[in-house]
Amino acid sequence: MSKISCVGVVGSGIMGSGLAEVAARAGFDVVVRSRTQEGADAVLDRVGSGLARQVAKERMTEEERRAILDRISVTDHLGRLADCDLVIESVVEDLAIKRELFAELEQIVKPAGILATNTSTLPVVELAMVTQRPDKVCGIHFFNPAPAMKLVEVIKPLTASKKTTSVAVECAEACGKDAVLVEDRAGFVVNALLFPYLNNAVRMLEQGTASMDDIDTAMMGGCNFPMGPFALLDLVGLDTSMSILDALYEEFRDPNYAAVPTLRRMVAAGHLGRKSKQGFRAY
Ligand SMILES: NC(=O)c1ccc[n+]([C@@H]2O[C@H](COP(=O)([O-])OP(=O)(O)OC[C@H]3O[C@@H](n4cnc5c(N)ncnc54)[C@H](O)[C@@H]3O)[C@@H](O)[C@H]2O)c1
Repeated sequence: MSKISCVGVVGSGIMGSGLAEVAARAGFDVVVRSRTQEGADAVLDRVGSGLARQVAKERMTEEERRAILDRISVTDHLGRLADCDLVIESVVEDLAIKRELFAELEQIVKPAGILATNTSTLPVVELAMVTQRPDKVCGIHFFNPAPAMKLVEVIKPLTASKKTTSVAVECAEACGKDAVLVEDRAGFVVNALLFPYLNNAVRMLEQGTASMDDIDTAMMGGCNFPMGPFALLDLVGLDTSMSILDALYEEFRDPNYAAVPTLRRMVAAGHLGRKSKQGFRAY
C-alpha cells in the first residue's frame, strides 16, 4: 500500500496540469502551486475542460468530474505544500531554477515527504544534493499528455533509497501507469532514444530531403507511429525539446544530440509549438 495521500505539483504548464489531473483521478488529494494565482486558476480550468470532454464522450459522469476537481486545490503559495507526502516538481527544464526550487522545498515540505522531479533529462542527483534528504529525492517522469500516456520512468539517483523509488513506483501504478526503473542518466530511456530521431528529422528538413508533411507522413505510415516528428516536436514544445537536447549533448557529447540550427532559431523567435500557437505548424 502506498503511503501517499496528498500529492503536490509545482508548475502550471503542460505537464503540471496533466500531473494534477492524473493524480486527482487516482484519488489523491492534489495541491498545485503556480507562481501566480492566474497560472494556478488556469490549471483548474484546463483540467475541468479536459474532463468535460470525457463527460461529453460518456467516459465519465458529471459527478465523477466534480469529485476529481474537488480533490484539486490550487495556490500561488509554496507553503501550501508543507503537508504533502510527495511533491512532483514540473517547472521549466532549467537546472539552476530546479535546484533553487528544491532548496526551497527542502525548507517547506515535511521531513518525511518525498521530493520528485518530472525532468526529462537533467541529473536528478544534483537536485537531491541541494536538500538535507537526498535519500528521499527521485525522478518521476511522466509523458505528454500525462492523462493519456501509459509510461512513467522512475529515476533512481545514486543517493535515493530503495524505499523512495518503491513508493514512487507504487504511486505511478496507482495512477494506472506502467513504471520502469531507470538509472540517473540524461534522457533516461525514452528521450535518450527519441531525441536523436527528432533532431535528425529537423536536419533532414534543413537538407531538403523531403517536405515536413512528407517526413511526418513517412514516419507514421512507415513505422506505424501515431504522429510524425514535427507534430511531436510541436506537442512537446520546441523550447523544452532544445533544453532536452542540450542536456543530452552536455552529458554524452554525441553529435546526434547537438540541436540543429533551425530548432534554435525557432525557439529564439518564440515559435515554441502548440503552447505558443506557432511551431513547425500554426495552431
Ligand atoms: N512537454 C513535454 O512533453 C514534457 C514531457 C515530460 C516531462 N516534461 C518536463 O516537465 C517539466 C515542465 O515542462 P512543460 O512541458 O510543462 O513546460 P511548460 O513550458 O508548459 O511549463 C513550464 C512551467 O514552469 C514555470 N516556470 C518557468 N520559469 C520558472 C521559474 N523561474 N520558477 C518557477 N517556475 C517557472 C512556468 O510558469 C510553467 O508553469 C520540464 O522539466 C520538462 O522537461 C515535459
